[in-house]
Amino acid sequence: MRLVIGKPLGFCFGVKRAIDKLEAALKDYGKVYALGSPIHNEEEVKRLISLGLELVEAVEELPQSSVVFIRAHGTTPEILEKAREKGCTIIDGTCPSVKNAQEKARLLSQEGYEVIVVGDPKHPEVQSIKGCTAGRASVVSSSKDVTDFPSKDKIGVVSQTTQEEGTLLSIVSVLLRKARELRAYNTICKATLHRQETVRKLAAETEGIIVIGGRNSTNTAKLVEVGKREGSDVLWIAKPDEIDKSWLENKHIIGIAAGASTPDWLINDVINSLSSR
Ligand code: F3S
Repeated sequence: MRLVIGKPLGFCFGVKRAIDKLEAALKDYGKVYALGSPIHNEEEVKRLISLGLELVEAVEELPQSSVVFIRAHGTTPEILEKAREKGCTIIDGTCPSVKNAQEKARLLSQEGYEVIVVGDPKHPEVQSIKGCTAGRASVVSSSKDVTDFPSKDKIGVVSQTTQEEGTLLSIVSVLLRKARELRAYNTICKATLHRQETVRKLAAETEGIIVIGGRNSTNTAKLVEVGKREGSDVLWIAKPDEIDKSWLENKHIIGIAAGASTPDWLINDVINSLSSR
């Protein structure tokens, strides 16, 4: 069996930056609270909890004057304000690419555009972007969602950073006929695009791809989707013991890809486990 390791692999610069900030804060303060999971990877979250991280679901649960970490997906201005009112020290791990999408949405809203965010409405990043339009933006995930969208004078579009470019393009092309003026910002981050491109290449070069990443990681789910669409036999695993023996049978060249929130140590564990077979 030969393994073809895709590049780039694992943590993107935004997640690495956020985790570095969080680890530094854990060293300085001992206890740090995170609003929701700081990273969409359960194994890495377990490690951070062992260092003193505590997860809370809502800003109301934060103790007065505690230290709170804002994850790479960002949060809404409203939640930030509530944390400040509680006297919290804020460690801002929002990825600069997410900040860019938030700023573009804010700008479009302030300039009177009907704002459309392309993404998953339940995803925290999308909620943080929508929050920058005072909750007025509409969230859509495919061109079908905008087919019946009413015509407007000015429509502005931004995207969740982990979307596929094809989805953004198809939505923008439908909206083009619905606005006198359309302003679209491609806020998909390069780290996402490069990882999707890697999976396309692996699909052409291998007999199957193992994608490593958390089940709740959108960018990992997109990699799985891209691989399958390219006709590859894709196995999505969150940790080494999920490697399915029957999937490996009769495969001689296997590609390895990982989501932007998958830590290096977990990728190495998977590679070592495969090598030992
Ligand atoms: Fe940022 Fe892109 Fe990573 S938005 S967190 S660099 S996937």
